Amino acid sequence: MSVSDAVFAIDRGLAELGDAFRSAFAAAKDEQALRDAHAELLGKKKGALTRVMALMRDVAASERPAAGAKVNDFKEQVEAAFEARLRDLAVARRSADLRGRPFDLTLPGRVPEGRGHLHPVLQTRDDLLRIFRDLGFDIVSGPEVELEENNFTKLAFPPDHPATDMQDTFWVGVHGPDGAQRDGRVLLRTHTSNTQIRVMSSRKPPMAVVSAGPVYRRDDDLTHSPMFHQIEGFVVDEGVSMADLKGVLAAFAEGLYGPGTRIRFRPSYFPFVEPGAEVDIGCVFCSEADGSRARCRVCKQTGWVEVLGCGMIHPEVLEHCNIDRTRYGGFAFGFGIERIAMLRYGIPSIKLLFENDPRFLSQF
Ligand code: PHE
Repeated sequence: MSVSDAVFAIDRGLAELGDAFRSAFAAAKDEQALRDAHAELLGKKKGALTRVMALMRDVAASERPAAGAKVNDFKEQVEAAFEARLRDLAVARRSADLRGRPFDLTLPGRVPEGRGHLHPVLQTRDDLLRIFRDLGFDIVSGPEVELEENNFTKLAFPPDHPATDMQDTFWVGVHGPDGAQRDGRVLLRTHTSNTQIRVMSSRKPPMAVVSAGPVYRRDDDLTHSPMFHQIEGFVVDEGVSMADLKGVLAAFAEGLYGPGTRIRFRPSYFPFVEPGAEVDIGCVFCSEADGSRARCRVCKQTGWVEVLGCGMIHPEVLEHCNIDRTRYGGFAFGFGIERIAMLRYGIPSIKLLFENDPRFLSQF
């Protein structure tokens, strides 16, 4: 191609393009259509004007300024028309919005779907902890993987106590970097009473502490799960008596089920308390007055529901934690959170709490 051929080809190309771009831009109904029309001219590879501009390569130096000016002028007209149309479209869109139906601020908002919440066991845990916090207890946490010492030995369980059996407790093998089994037996805690030992060994009396968390036992039926949650509470001070224990638990029962809720103590045995007791709460699901007691499945017609274990901390346990047993005394109590949640919400099987079926959980 000779030099003047190149200029000729450019001229012809520009003439062919003519001002068709003006009507193409005007015809574009929205921004996307406009950008497409623009790309047909100035797209990097296939744009019609891009191709004409590529012919500049073959233009001789002497003809270049004049030819370049022509091409640039054309391109500027295209860009100017494009920008103008872009602005017109934006203005049109904005006024269409303003002319459209007004936004109704009084319509109810859209509630996000599938929003989660705390599991009913954790809701119950927090409500229980709040009751004790309001009574002046500190809240602490304790480990779920625990030394035998803190879970059993220092709580005065004899070495052959049935709870320490393989059938009852999940034992954990701990191995050193050399692969050899470490000394000292480790288990998944079977109750939250391990926090008694840990806290009493690290704090000086007076203390009033509660702790909540998962515990593990080899148990599995309608009312027992191998993992469940407990709350433990204890107080150590001078002159602590069973009356203090009773007062705290009475306040707790009223905090849970409302004023007038009754409790009763039945003698019981736990190695780490003396005396020990089990506490029943007066059934809140039935009454003798309206005859509902005769049908009550929660208290099995007794009027009482067993909820917790408690007692005066055994002096031997205080001693294991280096607390002066001649000067200090204490009480402790512990109970299962699932059981309270089941009673509270009338849940018939503990399994429902752990199957994580949203049809069940969304009811709380
Ligand atoms: N740790 C006991 C249990 O799991 C409950 C308990 C706690 C009893 C504190 C007395 C004092 O059954």
